[in-house]
Amino acid sequence: MATDKLFRKRQRLVSDFTFGRHTAKVFDDMLTRSVPFYGEIQRMIGELAADFAVEGSNLYDLGCSTGNTFCLLDPLVSKGVRFVGVDSSPEMLAKAREKVKRHGMQRAHEFVCADLNRGVQVTNASVVIMILTLQFIRPLYRHTLIKSIASGMNDQGCFILVEKVLPRDSMLNRLFIKYYYAFKERQGYTTMEIAQKREALENVLVPYRLEENQELLLSSGFSQCDVFFKWYNFCGLVALKTRHDSPAKAE
Ligand SMILES: C[S@@+](CC[C@H](N)C(=O)[O-])C[C@H]1O[C@@H](n2cnc3c(N)ncnc32)[C@H](O)[C@@H]1O
Repeated sequence: MATDKLFRKRQRLVSDFTFGRHTAKVFDDMLTRSVPFYGEIQRMIGELAADFAVEGSNLYDLGCSTGNTFCLLDPLVSKGVRFVGVDSSPEMLAKAREKVKRHGMQRAHEFVCADLNRGVQVTNASVVIMILTLQFIRPLYRHTLIKSIASGMNDQGCFILVEKVLPRDSMLNRLFIKYYYAFKERQGYTTMEIAQKREALENVLVPYRLEENQELLLSSGFSQCDVFFKWYNFCGLVALKTRHDSPAKAE
């Protein structure tokens, strides 16, 4: 796995972050060193997806990058489920195609190069996954996008959304950022790398507050949602179209 050194050298002018060739090359290393508990988040998604994926339906990964999630899900999800990966970066998709081939994935699958700002056509979906991608979609288009996801999902389907989120309180915001940077330093990133990447993401990654994302889901066709993962400003949400019976009281 190539090491992420994209921001190691001092840049006179930091340009906006992109998901092109240079990022795709080091992306897997970047992801595991930049997302706290990425492995555990993926493991939990595997568990959820395996329970909701239905034979004969589609499972979508929107913003699939290099295809990590499909490789993880392949042994867990019934073989009769077709995988559809969507991403706007041809370089990421080239890596994804190569990776699922190397992985020996036999099931029906497709990778689609498309800009999610323009919406997405989801059909017969039992599971839709969107990991750290909605935050890159322009806020103006998020509602339409989530509505189109919800309307293309089957009634018993589940939508799994992982996002960076902002705390409501400004002091907590500062503290969460401080703890996140400490995490990145523990992963071997220098203070300068952290600062330059932050600058590059400034106008590109636009996080919502957790409640804003919940509101977005509930106003777009999902009848309920819950948090399945939270680490400071990283959050995993699971949304369902159909309300299920109340669970039994805690044992
Ligand atoms: C942080 S990465 C997602 C990580 C990935 N889900 C995973 O767990 O490995 C964000 C991805 O979203 C894609 N992306 C960003 N903006 C997009 C857009 N407007 N339409 C489609 N894909 C987009 C990027 O190319 C990138 O691969």
